[in-house]
Amino acid sequence: MQNINIQWFPGHMTKTKRRIQANLKLVDAVVEIIDARIPVSSRNPDLDKLIQNKPRIILMNKCDMADKIQTKRWINYYQSQNIKAIPVDCRSGKGLNLFIPTVKSVLADKIEQWEAKGMKNRAIHLMVVGIPNVGKSSFINRMAKKDSAKVEDRPGVTRGNQWFSIGQGLELLDTPGILWPKFDDPEVGEKLAFTGAVKDRITDTELLAYRLLEVMCQYPTPQFVERFKLQDTDLQNTQPYDLLEIIGKKRGMLMTGGKVNTERASVTVLDEYRSGKLGNITLECV
Ligand code: G4P
Repeated sequence: MQNINIQWFPGHMTKTKRRIQANLKLVDAVVEIIDARIPVSSRNPDLDKLIQNKPRIILMNKCDMADKIQTKRWINYYQSQNIKAIPVDCRSGKGLNLFIPTVKSVLADKIEQWEAKGMKNRAIHLMVVGIPNVGKSSFINRMAKKDSAKVEDRPGVTRGNQWFSIGQGLELLDTPGILWPKFDDPEVGEKLAFTGAVKDRITDTELLAYRLLEVMCQYPTPQFVERFKLQDTDLQNTQPYDLLEIIGKKRGMLMTGGKVNTERASVTVLDEYRSGKLGNITLECV
């Protein structure tokens, strides 16, 4: 089957780019949040150019739904590129205890230089960037403890920017930078649609479910087989549209006349994948 051409709208890319560039001048490091299930497709292809030499920390978010072995391999890969990455789950907060120590280790040389210049308690400023839905707000909400007062605007700082103190001298810009994913690659669009990062149009749902089933059949997880009762189905030799019918039938999704409601079955397959019920699956391996 061919990839589906998922359409999405980048919004005000130039404006966003300019805002991120303006904010970059105010921060010591950039926190790039990516989706651990799609470590390639959830990144912005222009980010390197945009942030240039600014130190960066990658948060592999939603790692609760990704394949643990793959997440580890990706972290090693980033390490080989001299980038520190940590696996996190910003919904539960798991892994975030490593965040402040990681920032401090990435900025160790700078902190030493500041101290040598007598700036012992200089705050560390950070900006959070990532594509829509990757978990930027969840991260900021988790880190900015409820009782932490917003730090006042200070001279020289773009008006309206608010900073949250997150402890140990770290401050987070509370407006996340919204990046755009790579548009021109249909595979990227498809993966973003699988995870729900871009909304699928109603007409795409069934096609998208076929494509996801095709991917799932290559490496069927026990959860996938069990939840849809596919123990007796030859997954390697069943066409995705036939498989969707089987799934719909097993779940009792029948219309009057006994025909399977494949649209309902599609929504179920996609929902269960997106909520992690079909197991921990990373769609891009290193
Ligand atoms: P954004 O600011 O980058 O746009 O993303 P946001 O934090 O709003 O998160 C988008 C969705 O992803 C939210 O779900 C959020 O709960 C979920 N999410 C964020 N981080 C994680 C994570 O590490 N693991 C999992 N499993 N989910 C995560 P939602 O359905 O839109 O909202 P809600 O149902 O959680 O309220």
